[in-house]
Amino acid sequence: MRSILVTSALPYANGPIHIGHLVEYIQTDIWVRYHKLRGRDCLYMCADDTHGTPIMIRAQREGITPEELVTAMHGEHLADFTDFLVGFDNYYTTNSEENRLLSEEIYLKNRDAGHISHGPVRQSYCAKDAMFLPDRFIRGTCPSCGAVDQYGDACEACSATYAPVDLKDARCSLCGTPPEERESEHYFFKLGDFEEFLRQWTRSGALQEEMANKLDEWFNEGLKDWDISRDGPYFGFQIPDAPGKYFYVWLDAPIGYLASTWNYCKRTGRDFDAIWRKEDPWEVYHFIGKDILYFHTLFFPATLKGGGFRTPTRVFAHGFLTVNGQKMSKSRGTFIKARDYLDFLDPEALRYYYAFKLSNRVEDLDLNLEDFSQRVNSDLVGKVVNLASRTAGFVNSRFDGMLAAPYPEDGGLYREFVQAGQEIDQYYEQREFGRAMQAIMRLTERANQFVESRAPWVLARDESQKNALLEACSISLNLFRVLMTYLKPVLPRTAQKVEAFMALPEGLTWEGRETPLVGHRIQPFQHLMQRVDSKKVEQLVERSKGDMAPSSPPPVAPSSTPAPQVAVDPLAAPISIDIFGQMDLRVAKIIQAEGVEGADKLLKLTLDLGGLGQRTVFAGIKSAYDPATLIGRLTVVVANLQPRKMKFGLSEGMVLAAGPGGKELFLLSPDQGAQPGMRIK
Ligand code: 2FM
Ligand code: ZN
Repeated sequence: MRSILVTSALPYANGPIHIGHLVEYIQTDIWVRYHKLRGRDCLYMCADDTHGTPIMIRAQREGITPEELVTAMHGEHLADFTDFLVGFDNYYTTNSEENRLLSEEIYLKNRDAGHISHGPVRQSYCAKDAMFLPDRFIRGTCPSCGAVDQYGDACEACSATYAPVDLKDARCSLCGTPPEERESEHYFFKLGDFEEFLRQWTRSGALQEEMANKLDEWFNEGLKDWDISRDGPYFGFQIPDAPGKYFYVWLDAPIGYLASTWNYCKRTGRDFDAIWRKEDPWEVYHFIGKDILYFHTLFFPATLKGGGFRTPTRVFAHGFLTVNGQKMSKSRGTFIKARDYLDFLDPEALRYYYAFKLSNRVEDLDLNLEDFSQRVNSDLVGKVVNLASRTAGFVNSRFDGMLAAPYPEDGGLYREFVQAGQEIDQYYEQREFGRAMQAIMRLTERANQFVESRAPWVLARDESQKNALLEACSISLNLFRVLMTYLKPVLPRTAQKVEAFMALPEGLTWEGRETPLVGHRIQPFQHLMQRVDSKKVEQLVERSKGDMAPSSPPPVAPSSTPAPQVAVDPLAAPISIDIFGQMDLRVAKIIQAEGVEGADKLLKLTLDLGGLGQRTVFAGIKSAYDPATLIGRLTVVVANLQPRKMKFGLSEGMVLAAGPGGKELFLLSPDQGAQPGMRIK
């Protein structure tokens, strides 16, 4: 029997899971479920990627420890994955003892073999925050095009890349202080020592062709030493022989695959060494996005090799998600969080649509929302579920649930369906899920043609056709059972319902499909799947328009995300009085309120802040208030919020409201006597 370990890239613990991430987790999960269906010993490992400066800073801002933050995010991520039916065998964290021990072991073995060097590096340092600043924490004017407020490594306006020292007018993005340059000792992994191994590994069939070509480019440019250390303060693991230095997050992140496996093995009594310290018999596969190729095909295999561990059998890269042909966008409402999707739509609809669009190439995948509704409704509801819903009722009501015995003459249809399994099996194995879905849908159409040709609903009207009715329905349900076996990796929840209604104690199994069910009693038919309602899709897009990243909150604060099912809700964590004191809350009088063309949720408010003058604020309260009723009313505004440029103009503050959103939003107002401009303490 094959033994297969599969991983998906570890999501960062500093943000929510969105539908872009889900391309990878759904792709991997389908592959894992396929192998399990084929009876293989297959394990799916993943974890949260927890280390690095952004997580440390976010925790500081929220007044909690990084450990609390990553615990909270872990719960949130796992709930999202579980609800999308992504079935990890273990979902762990890189901030674990197992990962620390393995990272140290890999580092020390590499060091002892001479693969680590060290030397001074000059980098930007913020004296006020007392820390070296990663490029993303430096903002300034692009040296190339002059665009203001650009990151320290690349300009979003002209795409130029540069070193942070070249940025004009550079500032620490945390405190606004101009950074200085300071020198510190860094540790390097000598990637060049592994060139021969990597060249050979690359040619061993471990990579898709596009990736192997990319690697050739990198070999031609020459493999450079990799800086694996960061100075404290840093949320991560200390380097054993270098006090105050930490492993760069990308050193310990992929080792998280091993750490999750080790944790799983301890829990289940399985043999970790057999999986990761030997080349055979385990096969090890990593699914990743095309943007993290360098880490997974150069650094990771080389550090494993030098650390005495096995190297991956294959790395599978996929492209990015576009929605309606464009990059996911918050303003278009196509930057859709997993939890928001789940609030409106069925996870299996997205699983099927992604499967339908996936191939084994490194191509981008487009989620066209209209096509999504049509495809799912037509294929799954209209064709697959229809087969059972049109026939099971007759078997239950007329034949006490008992299928025909022996299996009726069907012109070889059942045999054909079983045979098609060979082709579908190959498509799944090769990660050609789109082809697999097409092959399954071709069979589904054949089955529907069969049902239509026999027209059980006509036979049911004629008592003398009773046997013909049972035969037609029994054939249809048997074909349906084979189809659902093929779809089980993609639609695990529906498959489970089918297993219950068809009374299959062994479940839908690959071998089981070879023999039709005869003289077998099924259970009453249960509803299997809902149509995708395009109104719900629209509502989801609307909700996603209101969703902003935590770093740039919406003009009014109705969180669209339900309370995460986690131990600590980061939004509710305690903050210090100092942090609270930094917020300048003022009484404001609404002197003008009007709708905004092209924005269903927003009202444009003109606020009078007394001595502080007037402000324009865009607030997402349109569904709750008729603008005319707001004029003259007092409310509360966050007056020192950084102005935010929106599509419709500049929003210069945020009014406060309570409630879940939509119609249920309640603007805060002070008691009588308060005057515009008064500070709220
Ligand atoms: O790119 C990312 O989102 C990383 N968190 C992926 C890490 S994958 C593995 F190396 F840990
Ligand atoms: Zn600073």
